[in-house]
Amino acid sequence: MTTVFDSVVLGRNTLPNRLVMAPMTRSRAQQDGTPGDLAATYYAQRAGVGLIVSEGTQPSDDGQGYLTTPGIYTDAHVAGWKRVTDAVHAKGGHIFIQLMHAGRMSHPDNTLHHRPGVAPSAIAPGTGMFTAQGMKDIPVPQALSLEAIEQTVKDFAFAARRAIEAGADGVEIHGANAYLIQQFFAPSANTRTDAYGGSIENRTRFALEVAKAIAEDIGADRTAIRLSPGTTMWGIDEGPEGPDLYRHLVKELDKLNLAYVHVMHQGNEPLLADIRKLWSGKLILNRPGRPRDQIGADVASGLADLEAYGVMVLANPDFVQRLETHAPMNEPHREGFFGGTDKFYTDYPTLPETQGA
Ligand SMILES: Cc1cc2nc3c(=O)[nH]c(=O)nc-3n(C[C@H](O)[C@H](O)[C@H](O)COP(=O)(O)O)c2cc1C
Repeated sequence: MTTVFDSVVLGRNTLPNRLVMAPMTRSRAQQDGTPGDLAATYYAQRAGVGLIVSEGTQPSDDGQGYLTTPGIYTDAHVAGWKRVTDAVHAKGGHIFIQLMHAGRMSHPDNTLHHRPGVAPSAIAPGTGMFTAQGMKDIPVPQALSLEAIEQTVKDFAFAARRAIEAGADGVEIHGANAYLIQQFFAPSANTRTDAYGGSIENRTRFALEVAKAIAEDIGADRTAIRLSPGTTMWGIDEGPEGPDLYRHLVKELDKLNLAYVHVMHQGNEPLLADIRKLWSGKLILNRPGRPRDQIGADVASGLADLEAYGVMVLANPDFVQRLETHAPMNEPHREGFFGGTDKFYTDYPTLPETQGA
């Protein structure tokens, strides 16, 4: 039986175990999007997992949504991420940078250019967002022109090249959680009548173009994608065709031989089983809120090749050792999730530190 402590080949890398740190925005970058001074320490502390997926990182000015998230397109960004990847590699770890374009999930107060976000259609998500002045309604985004879509695909590929230049082992395209790529999937956010709206083929076109462009530039074995089929938050409704859209998408992704598909599971078990069948590469599965005693079950059953965990890894730099030794876990502190200092960022104790050793 395969366990999460067994090694696995993922793209160009052989990982020592099948435990993955799920991508987590921490909003501690500098104003220009350069990773903060403590980012290298934070990720290196967690390098014991087989793979780290970084916090969502914008591929362009327009890709930013939240306050002080990092980017990966300027020289300063590359230098900042190089410090992170070097620190992770020095500890024997592996890191993919998650390329996150927030699309309409963006507030002008949070971005360098202060424009509304961009999206498939000019439809607001109907929710608020945290800004430096507190919660504010997200304005109606600007609909992307065909030329702007083409440029956005290029921006993703450029950012992927820069991530490799910064020493990342690969990139994970953020196709989940109601951000730009999933906005294209959902008829509630995409009412286009051109080649990017309407049919399943059209609504998945942008995601596939991004994946192909990145794979061509940095290699399919360093390109991955995260999906969250059935997400219902922030005005996303994929409609009755949703599951079929993902079947089509995964079938097409399978032709590209990417390093992995990462599913943030929303509960549709039959669809998950279909994805497992349609995708012949490595599958990373994240089940939000998974209890500790279930860790390893999806790798053991063969449903997934790797399992991703978020808040447990955030709060436990030595997550893998704690699992192996059946040690208790630190509790995550939500008040430190987004923004702030080293508190509840790099100061979660390891087991020996907890025990005062
Ligand atoms: C603080 C925080 C930030 C997150 N940021 C991202 C992100 O940038 N990209 C992403 O794909 N998911 C993000 N997520 C979702 C996590 O990757 C993960 O799917 C979620 O926490 C559920 O898994 P868990 O119960 O193991 O934590 C975030 C979650 C948390 C708690």
